[in-house]
Amino acid sequence: MVSRIAIIILFHVFLSLNSHPAKAQAWIKAGYWYYHTDLPLSKINSTLYTHLICAFANLNSSSYHLSIPSSDDFSAFTNTVKQKNPSITTLLSIGGGRANYSTISAMAGNSTYRKSFIDDSIKTARHYGFQGLDFSWLSANTSDNMANMGTLFEEWRAAIAMETRNSSLSELILTAAVRLSPPLDSVSFPIDSMRRNLNWIHVLAYDYYLPEGFKFTAASAALYAPDSDVCTDTGIGAWIIEGLPASKLVLGLPFFGYAWKLANPTENSIGAPATGPAVTKEGDMSYKEINNYSKTQGAVGPIYNSFYEVNYVIVGSDWISFDGVDVVRIKVSYAKEKALLGYVVWEISQDDNWVLSQAGIRMFLNRKMFFDQCDNNDVKRLSLID
Ligand SMILES: *[C@@H]1O[C@H](CO)[C@@H](O)[C@H](O)[C@H]1NC(C)=O
Ligand SMILES: *[C@@H]1O[C@H](CO)[C@@H](O)[C@H](O)[C@H]1NC(C)=O
Ligand SMILES: *[C@@H]1O[C@H](CO)[C@@H](O)[C@H](O)[C@H]1NC(C)=O
Ligand SMILES: *[C@@H]1O[C@H](CO)[C@@H](O)[C@H](O)[C@H]1NC(C)=O
Ligand SMILES: *[C@@H]1O[C@H](CO)[C@@H](O)[C@H](O)[C@H]1NC(C)=O
Ligand SMILES: *[C@@H]1O[C@H](CO)[C@@H](O)[C@H](O)[C@H]1NC(C)=O
Ligand SMILES: *[C@@H]1O[C@H](CO)[C@@H](O)[C@H](O)[C@H]1NC(C)=O
Repeated sequence: MVSRIAIIILFHVFLSLNSHPAKAQAWIKAGYWYYHTDLPLSKINSTLYTHLICAFANLNSSSYHLSIPSSDDFSAFTNTVKQKNPSITTLLSIGGGRANYSTISAMAGNSTYRKSFIDDSIKTARHYGFQGLDFSWLSANTSDNMANMGTLFEEWRAAIAMETRNSSLSELILTAAVRLSPPLDSVSFPIDSMRRNLNWIHVLAYDYYLPEGFKFTAASAALYAPDSDVCTDTGIGAWIIEGLPASKLVLGLPFFGYAWKLANPTENSIGAPATGPAVTKEGDMSYKEINNYSKTQGAVGPIYNSFYEVNYVIVGSDWISFDGVDVVRIKVSYAKEKALLGYVVWEISQDDNWVLSQAGIRMFLNRKMFFDQCDNNDVKRLSLID
């Protein structure tokens, strides 16, 4: 029975691999590089990606022009990553989780400021050699914000198209990074404008549960949730129902996890009582830190849970959940099965010797071997996707 299901899945995968029209955007393997990390540009293995995104440019609160935090890195970015992979595409990301809400909000709400911002963003992208722009306004939280964001994308696309007509350069890509789920209380994203004006969106499918706010252990980037709607599968479904086609969605993969302090070390499954963050101040740990911590401290695990799609390790009373190689493969496979446009990693320096980056690629080279390795739960789960 199991092998019959596997064969059906393989057949569907085979069909989907062969049904892409020639002109469509090819499968995207994107990664963010955050300048404030310990991974120098020259060490990036860009052969593992199709797109690399340099993060983050900021907004000047009086001119609404971009400010570049590290002009040496940002100007070297494109040339450096193209040395190992000449066909890679680079984008400049603007904003990010720490961007000033009132500055972006003021820019988006005023047509003079918007024009200033848009013109400068295009000029800056060209000046530094980026092939696209990514807008990451994660704090947008009012219906005015959302309406203004829609107008911004409209005007931005028009300006980009105009710039292309006037220059001999190819048109800049325009993308946005968004939270997992489009409805946010009463405000919802400007779906129509996003569909018409953006090449695609990066769906940041993680941080559902953080150790500071949730006093129980959890899968912070669960693909599925047996007992709630808080999971990637539900969020991706919501974007599609709201009107963004799967072919515009790029699935975010976290190369980090979270550590909780167990209230009682003998209760250590998902949902066990916890007292707060462990190991670091907010409990966040990169994949390579988790591996190192596990090795040096003699962790139990990694344990794999196929109901949520998550790994976790236990070190005494520290409980750390994350996406390991097997989970990354399952999520990449999910993105393919759902006919999404690809995946985007936050953040490439958090990988450990590029093993997670390679996991996404290898699974396409050796798809059959991957499915042969799945246990029964994985096969059942994948068969539900159809
Ligand atoms: C970069 O990735 C490629 C493809 O997986 C691999 O062959 C190569 O060894 C990697 N290089 C480094 C320096 O890790
Ligand atoms: C912002 O722009 C103003 C006016 O162009 C300039 O005087 C100021 O130095 C800029 N601030 C930063 C932080 O770049
Ligand atoms: C954000 O920008 C506004 C101006 O737009 C400024 O008044 C405020 O101090 C800034 N906030 C932070 C935290 O930098
Ligand atoms: C936009 O900002 C400019 C310059 O501060 C101001 O003159 C104009 O009234 C503002 N427009 C709106 C719609 O707020
Ligand atoms: C929106 O977010 C900003 C920044 O986080 C916050 O200051 C503001 O109170 C929020 N507004 C609403 C309506 O939630
Ligand atoms: C592009 O060319 C049009 C006329 O064809 C002109 O009106 C416009 O100002 C130019 N825009 C830029 C950004 O050069
Ligand atoms: C690995 O972890 C140990 C302790 O758990 C720490 O002392 C060491 O600095 C870590 N090494 C790296 C490269 O993070």
